[in-house]
Amino acid sequence: MNVMTKQNETVTPRKIVDAPSVGHNLVPRPKLMTVEDAKALDVARMTDLFKAHLNPGQLHFMKLLGFHKIKIERAEGMYYYDQNGRKILDFFGGFGSLALGHNHRRLLEVRRKFQEENRHEIAIAFMSQYAAALAYDLAQVSPGDLDMVFLGSSGSEAMEAAIKLAERAAGPTRPKMVYAENSFHGKTKGVLSITDGQLYRGDFRLTDNTIKVPFGDIDAIERAFVANPDIGAIVLETIQGGGGINQAPAEFWQKLRRLCDAHGVLWVADEVQCGVGRSGRFYAFEHYDVVPDITAVAKSLGGGKSAMAAMIARRDVYLKAYGTPKTAMIHAAATFGGIGEASITAIETLNVLYDEGLIENAAVTGDYLIERLTELQAKYPKIIKEVRGKGFMIGLELHDFSQTLPMVLRPVVSVLDDKLKGSLSGFLGALLLRDYGVLVAFTEYNRNVIRLLPPLICQREHVDEFITALDDLMSRGIVSIVKDFVKSQVKSA
Ligand SMILES: Cc1ncc(COP(=O)(O)O)c(C=O)c1O
Repeated sequence: MNVMTKQNETVTPRKIVDAPSVGHNLVPRPKLMTVEDAKALDVARMTDLFKAHLNPGQLHFMKLLGFHKIKIERAEGMYYYDQNGRKILDFFGGFGSLALGHNHRRLLEVRRKFQEENRHEIAIAFMSQYAAALAYDLAQVSPGDLDMVFLGSSGSEAMEAAIKLAERAAGPTRPKMVYAENSFHGKTKGVLSITDGQLYRGDFRLTDNTIKVPFGDIDAIERAFVANPDIGAIVLETIQGGGGINQAPAEFWQKLRRLCDAHGVLWVADEVQCGVGRSGRFYAFEHYDVVPDITAVAKSLGGGKSAMAAMIARRDVYLKAYGTPKTAMIHAAATFGGIGEASITAIETLNVLYDEGLIENAAVTGDYLIERLTELQAKYPKIIKEVRGKGFMIGLELHDFSQTLPMVLRPVVSVLDDKLKGSLSGFLGALLLRDYGVLVAFTEYNRNVIRLLPPLICQREHVDEFITALDDLMSRGIVSIVKDFVKSQVKSA
């Protein structure tokens, strides 16, 4: 595929080669972009490169939402700043990876110092003091016997580690795993088998050693445990993110713990999105006074500056699977597991979380956000169906209006993409960004839910700014919102 070069020529970029320079005759230098070139790319050229090398299909969705017109130049605290100097209030929060907001000063400082001191990165040949300290800190913030840590660089990798550990600890006679409807545990091949999204599962060949139950249905779980003594583990997000911010009551979790103990089943709690303070506790399961056997965190653990993920397990479970020299390397860290700068960034992130009282802020200011959204629900009952969540993990479910929309608008809306039909969340999200400079997230499985995952540094004034924008937008009424959105699509087409 051809793209425009810097000189505005149409070329196939991978084949461009600079003239060989002195001393480099054998390996001619390809025409590489530099870091400065990258910073200077404008939206049109970014679009060309995105299309040519990253994901042409994804551009379709970006266009639908108007995200394709924006180039972020910098980001600080609660805000992005675009190419026109416009401030964008971030209630999307990198899908939950920005607990400390953008570019927290303390993270920048420890990283700068680490670099100036020429510290080492790779933690494979020698023991790493950074990985060791991070593992210690994670054990400190984890309740019960959750003491053993595996470090990786994505939520999927941490969850892969979790299910592999569970499988080995459960043993060969108990290979079955229970997972929930509407679950999301990542897109890598192993966890895809316990991710309940047809979109992601596609036609991949997945393991059939799984049993799906409705989320929060303790009776279904008990029936499964009784009927299948070969179940070794159950994997659940404590608060479902991709499924639309779904929670189960405290009794569910307490019964689950008792059931797992009674049947010798290992409970794996996926805290990749809801963990690291987002729910108002370090782990969301702490709201329910229970401790799983294995858990995983990622996203915000890297402070929004580094890719860091961890699986944390009960010591006896870990030792059962990998406790001897013979078994120790079966699933030891990958090349970048516990890498230096990412580890010290995570260590500082944990310290900042407590020093600045951010977990408590998530609980208190999160309650305020829920309260303000509930007021909006009372004001716009035909638009907002439900407000739910904990701390700064909030779902705003909108009514599906595909059937209530005036007849004249239905054909227009139906030509829009499948995902947006009947989904007011897409229209609201697009207009919030365009007209108010406010960014929100969407939900993989439930097109009617707007997901709010603001940084945990979010203050009441940011909540007020967000609510004022949403209130103003909703006051236009559904018909005008939909018409406006459709008009913007026609203009940009
Ligand atoms: C609950 C949960 N588990 C696992 C993952 C996968 O994490 P990653 O995208 O870092 O691989 C996600 C990502 O959104 C998640 O929300």
